[in-house]
Amino acid sequence: MKKVFTLLIFTALGFNTLIAKEIRSAEILFAKKCAMCHTVLKPKNKAAKKRMVAPPITKAMKSVVITIDALEGPLKDDELKEQTLVFLQDYIYNPSKKKADCEGSVIKKFGVMPSLKGFISQKELDVLLPWVYESFKPKKVNGEWP
Ligand code: HEC
Repeated sequence: MKKVFTLLIFTALGFNTLIAKEIRSAEILFAKKCAMCHTVLKPKNKAAKKRMVAPPITKAMKSVVITIDALEGPLKDDELKEQTLVFLQDYIYNPSKKKADCEGSVIKKFGVMPSLKGFISQKELDVLLPWVYESFKPKKVNGEWP
């Protein structure tokens, strides 16, 4: 029952291309492979802020998506998703200062993300990345990026 509910809720939110089982696997993958560095939102308390070793994933995704749309676009939703997934696929295995879309201040503070080659498989990325996109992409407000 709970699964059916999750499916209904996520479908309503626009997760209609992901089935409930994939969402659950993606959540687990994010917890195991990304969350040790990336929080979801910016932490509020000082101690948690001090422990940060990477930008919150919502902030990182905002930089990535808005940069791609600015350089290549304005893109239609499906094109933006596709190009973002191509970028993420490459960045996770081959990150570099040159490719990074995060602001200079973010790179200065945390350094460049390490390559996750050998830590996360292609099969896992296929499940994880579409979910990361749907979950953490920025949303336009009145046709403008926030
Ligand atoms: C060992 C710590 C660490 C892990 C693990 C990690 N990241 Fe990162 N990530 C970083 C740091 C630091 C940055 C900021 C610097 C940069 O952009 O390279 C970053 C940046 C990013 C960015 C922005 C890239 C850009 O263009 O600047 C995305 C998107 C991202 N991470 C996604 C992920 C995902 C998805 C995972 C899990 C599969 C993950 N990261 C795992 C440390 C990590």
